[in-house]
Amino acid sequence: MSNSLFRKKSLATIIKDAKDGLADGHETGGMNKVLKVKDLTAMGIAAVIGAGIFSTIGEASFHGGPGVSLLFVITAITCGFSALCYAEFASRVPVSGSAYTYSYVTFGELAAWVIGWALILEYAIGNIAVAISWSGYFNNLLGGIGLSLPSWLASNYDSATPAIVAAAPHIAGIPVILNLPAFIIVVLVTYLAYVGIQESKRSANFMVALKILVILFVIVVGFFYVNKANWHPFMPNGFSGVLKGVSAVFFAYIGFDAISTTAEECENPQRDLPKGMIYSLIICTVLYILISFVLTGMVPFYKLKVDDPLAFVFDQVHLPWISYLISVSAVVATTSVLLVFQIGQPRIWMSMSRDGLLPKRFGKIHPRFQTPSYATIVTGLLVGVPALFLNLTIVTDLTSIGTLFAFILVCGGVLILPREDKAVVKRFQLPYINGQIIVPVLIIGLAIFFRQEIGQKFSFTGGWEIWKHNIPFYIFVLVTLIMTMMSATRKLSLIPVLGMLSCFYLMTEIALKNWIVFSIWLAIGLTIYFLYSYSHSKLGKKA
Ligand code: ALA
Repeated sequence: MSNSLFRKKSLATIIKDAKDGLADGHETGGMNKVLKVKDLTAMGIAAVIGAGIFSTIGEASFHGGPGVSLLFVITAITCGFSALCYAEFASRVPVSGSAYTYSYVTFGELAAWVIGWALILEYAIGNIAVAISWSGYFNNLLGGIGLSLPSWLASNYDSATPAIVAAAPHIAGIPVILNLPAFIIVVLVTYLAYVGIQESKRSANFMVALKILVILFVIVVGFFYVNKANWHPFMPNGFSGVLKGVSAVFFAYIGFDAISTTAEECENPQRDLPKGMIYSLIICTVLYILISFVLTGMVPFYKLKVDDPLAFVFDQVHLPWISYLISVSAVVATTSVLLVFQIGQPRIWMSMSRDGLLPKRFGKIHPRFQTPSYATIVTGLLVGVPALFLNLTIVTDLTSIGTLFAFILVCGGVLILPREDKAVVKRFQLPYINGQIIVPVLIIGLAIFFRQEIGQKFSFTGGWEIWKHNIPFYIFVLVTLIMTMMSATRKLSLIPVLGMLSCFYLMTEIALKNWIVFSIWLAIGLTIYFLYSYSHSKLGKKA
C-alpha cells in the first residue's frame, strides 16, 4: 500500500490527456480556449486586490504602524518565489488542477489529495471571507443613499450586538441572524461562473480596470493628505507588532496562483500563464506598498482598527465623496475576487474527479456553457451557506495557513522536478541558482542577526501556556536545518528553497489555534481519501 500512496502521474500522460480533450472514458468535452496574457494578468489582479486591501489590512496597520509596508515587501518577496515556482509548473503542466496537479506529478497521489484538500481553504473558504467583506461594504453603500437592511439580515452570530439579537425574529427561541447580502452575491457570482468563461473574462476585465483606476486615484489624492509625522515611529510596536499582520497581508496577496486553474481555457498556457502570474503579482505589489504608505501617512496608525480602512481615512480628512467612491470600488473589487475563486475551485475538483479521486459528477462539463457545471454549483453552496453565518477573522486565518501550505508544496515540488523533461516544450524557465553556498550563508547570517528573537523563542521560562505557541517555530527550525543541509550537499535550486522556507516562516506567525483547526481539516481530508479516493483512483485501477 505504501507504494501506491506515492503513485505519480507522468507529465507525458497529463499533456496527452489534455490534448485529447481529456477523455479517459470520462463524461467531458473540451473547454473554451479564449484567455491571453492580458486576460490572465487581469484575472490575476481580479483575484488579488479585494478584501485584503480594502478590509483586513486595517487591523494589520493598527498593530504594525507604517512598518506594515515592510510586511508588504516581505510578503511580496515570499509570494514572488512561489509565483516563479508556479510559473515553472504551469509551463510544464498546462492543465487545470493548479497545485493539485503539480503535486500529483512530483510527490504522488496522497500529497496531491492533501494539497487539493488544502486548496479548498484557499478558494472556497477564502471566498467566504471575501463575501463577508463584500457585504460590509455593500451595507456602507446602502447607508450612503439612505437605505438599510434590517440589522439581523446583515450580521452574524459572532458579531451581532445585543440590539441586533433583540431585533431579530426568533424561531424556537433562537434568534435568526443572517448575512443575506453575502449569500446573494455568492449566488450571482456562481451564476456567472456557471454560464461561461467568456462572460467571466469580460466581467473580470471590466472590474479590474475600474478598481485599478480607483486605487491609483486614492494613492495620488491620498499623498496630498499625508502628514509625515504619522510615519514616525516607523514600527511603533516593534517588528513583532508588524508580524501580527502576516495573515491579513498574506491574504491580500492570495490569488495570483488562481489563474493557473484556467490552463485549459488559455490559448497558450505554457507561455501565457507564467507571464500572467508574474505581471499581476508585480502590479499588485507596487500598488499595495504605495497604499500602505498612504494609509499610515494619512491618519495615526492607532486609529486604523476598522473594517473599511481606505474609506475611513478619507472620511477622517473630510472627503466623504472619496470615501463613498472607495466603497463602490471595494464592492466591485471584492466581486471580482469572488468570481475568480468561484471559477477556480470547480476546476480543481474537475481535475480531481478526472483522476477518480472525486465522484465523476465533479468533472462533468456543461454541454452548452462548457464549464464544470456540477462542481460550480457545489462551490456556490459551500461558499454561500457558511457566508450567511460566519465571521471574517477565522476564515481569513484559515485561508492564509492553507494557502501557505500549498505554496510550500509547490516550491518543494519544483525541487523534485527533473531539470529537463523531454515530454514538454517549455516556454518559461525558472532560473537555476546553485543554493549550495548561498543558502547556508544566508541562514547563518539571519540566525546571527535575529539571535535575540530566536533566543526568546527557545526560552522555556513562561511555562506551557506560552511555550506551546512556539511549536510551529520549532518545526520551522527543524525544516530549515534539513533544507540547509540538503542545499549544501545536493546543490538545490535557490529560489524554491527560499520559497519553501519563507512561506513556512510566515506560517509560524499564524496563531497556534489555526494550526490546530488546519490539522483537523487535513485529518478529515485524509479520512475521505482512505474511505473513497484511494480505491477509486484511476491511476490505482490502471496499476
Ligand atoms: N487577495 C484576495 C483578497 O484580498 C483574496 O480579497
